[in-house]
Amino acid sequence: MRLDKFLCDALGTTRKESTQILKSGEVTVDGEVQKVGSFKVTEQSDVEWQGREIRISGPRYIMLNKPQGFVCSHEDGFNQTAFVLLDEVNMSDLHFAGRLDVDTTGLVLITDDGQWSHRITSPKHKCDKIYRVWLADPIEPNYEEKFATGIELRNERELTLPAQMEVIDEQQVLLTIHEGKYHQVKRMFAALGNKVVGLHRERVGNIILDDTLEPGEYRYLTEEEVASIWK
Ligand code: URA
Repeated sequence: MRLDKFLCDALGTTRKESTQILKSGEVTVDGEVQKVGSFKVTEQSDVEWQGREIRISGPRYIMLNKPQGFVCSHEDGFNQTAFVLLDEVNMSDLHFAGRLDVDTTGLVLITDDGQWSHRITSPKHKCDKIYRVWLADPIEPNYEEKFATGIELRNERELTLPAQMEVIDEQQVLLTIHEGKYHQVKRMFAALGNKVVGLHRERVGNIILDDTLEPGEYRYLTEEEVASIWK
């Protein structure tokens, strides 16, 4: 594809605007400044504008290591949206594929592909989520069985789906749940008389939070990670 056409698709600019952007010398392809619109780029080309990687608007799949203090929605008047952590073009096309509470950290998936995110969030598909949970009080011996049989949450008619708990230490567990009700993990432990004091999502389906991402950092998913959601 021609570079000027690539810019039009990636940035939503007209051909004339793309030509001007190119002239400004702010566009690099594979590290070299390119000013010529007819220059050919491929899917493998690394195109940057003002130092930011740009891609043809098309599906984008992002994993973010969310720090505390950011909401997975538009700003709520108190907290900043986690979108501010992204350095992306065409931000309005993106949405969260499942949310974390403002004080929860860890894996958040962000995309512009509605079918893909539906597969993650739809209760029908029971996508696994793994959380590391820190508790105020020691774990009781009956927790594992209670999670396995299902827990009655306040204001819910149905029991939670069976969940699996792995004890890490006296006050820390890994919990795998297969649904995503509002404040689910906190409410499950509250129903057992305990309190969640720290919550970190490590995994969604087969997508594992990349441990090289510092809080607030993100990266694009690999093709395998994207495809794993359909398996
Ligand atoms: N369960 C919660 O209680 N909070 C989250 O952020 C995610 C799961």
